[in-house]
Amino acid sequence: MVVGSGAREHALVETLAQSPLAEEIFAAPGNPGMAHLAELVDIPADDLISLRNFAKTTGIDLTVVGPESPLIGGIAECFWGAGLKIFGPSRAAARIEGSKVFAKELMRHAGVPTARFEAFDRLPAALAYLRSLSPGDSYPVVVKVDGIAAGKGVIVAGSYEEAEGAVRAAFAGAFGAAGERVLIEEHLTGREASVFALTDGRNILPFVPAQDYKRIYDGDEGPNTGGMGAYSPTMWMDPATYATILEEIVTPIVHQLALIGAPYTGLLYAGVMMTDEGPKALEFNCRFGDPETQVLLPRMETNLLDLLLASAEEDIGGQEISWSAEKAVCVVLASEGYPESSSEGDEITGLDTVADMPGVRIYHAATRQENGIYYTAGGRVLNVVGTGTSIMEARARAYAAVELIDFPGKQYRTDIALEALEMEEL
Ligand code: AMP
Ligand code: GLY
Repeated sequence: MVVGSGAREHALVETLAQSPLAEEIFAAPGNPGMAHLAELVDIPADDLISLRNFAKTTGIDLTVVGPESPLIGGIAECFWGAGLKIFGPSRAAARIEGSKVFAKELMRHAGVPTARFEAFDRLPAALAYLRSLSPGDSYPVVVKVDGIAAGKGVIVAGSYEEAEGAVRAAFAGAFGAAGERVLIEEHLTGREASVFALTDGRNILPFVPAQDYKRIYDGDEGPNTGGMGAYSPTMWMDPATYATILEEIVTPIVHQLALIGAPYTGLLYAGVMMTDEGPKALEFNCRFGDPETQVLLPRMETNLLDLLLASAEEDIGGQEISWSAEKAVCVVLASEGYPESSSEGDEITGLDTVADMPGVRIYHAATRQENGIYYTAGGRVLNVVGTGTSIMEARARAYAAVELIDFPGKQYRTDIALEALEMEEL
């Protein structure tokens, strides 16, 4: 059973379905795009008790959790308590995403390179700290709320006034309970990479890195989103730098979590910034990245179900993941108004036309189906993934399909993997 309803979960279901071990797949709640691959179960991803009861009565052999919130809420313990197998970290280990202060303290204790930071739970102390920074050298600063805030809890503040506004908003409850504690961080610059590793608490099985695009508009302009595109492989990441990331960032965190009695089983996601001083950790997530997963799983040659089972059974030692030489590019189609708002109920056309295009996969992110017609049902609607022997081919295939799919107010970035195309041409 796959828990979640987005394009990441669609990609997980599609890949798991290829395994001979997968006799039957359920998705809770899933989405209409995966209905031909999995039986959809009408239970929300946050209803942990109903999910556990369903898994128990149905005899689910393995549950794979897509989104962070059930993990942060303790779905793993809930399933373990009922003797059920689940892929994903415990609540204690998922705090690495659930609390940024916890993550930063863990990094400090593990000696992981990251931005300097101070944490505050009172407004006056936070403001006094901001005033103590020199206007010239210390700004911009990054103000972050401690808890999860739907991707909105990170504010890059260019001046004292802006930082003060962000801190005041957080303590006034603008981000709910997530803003009861606030971090003020040094601003790092460089290129960002998404690094995934499977772990069983002791052993680490790294994925290849991926590039995602967080801003809504071309050229990385506009507000942050849940992700507007991705590509893999990242030809700009040299093997030595990647080895450094695994050695200095991923491994010490996995060991530190085990040391404090919260061993991490599942997929650990490190957001890493390549600074002039070397790679530094920005954040950790307790789950597969979205949309990076949608470009990584199509390239994975190792059986995903075997890997996830091995992680859930705490035994990934001695395994390896092999990747095809194919390239993959994902373009996200979003609805009108996203990310501030989103439009729902607009008819989607063209899905039939692109269904049989070679090297094109469509993953549904927020759609609804009625009488054979698909409608938009949220901010990020569809993911179009192109694969091919070059970035040029993968990208051309993705964008050809993007042009053929339509709905009122359709938004997408036109520059996904453009830089990779330029590097490939060199
Ligand atoms: P986070 O949720 O901590 O990953 O923050 C979301 C995004 O904000 C990151 O992917 C970065 O693009 C940006 N960001 C976070 N922390 C910093 C930092 N210290 N310096 C610069 N950018 C940051
Ligand atoms: N791609 C960003 C995330 O999954 O958080």
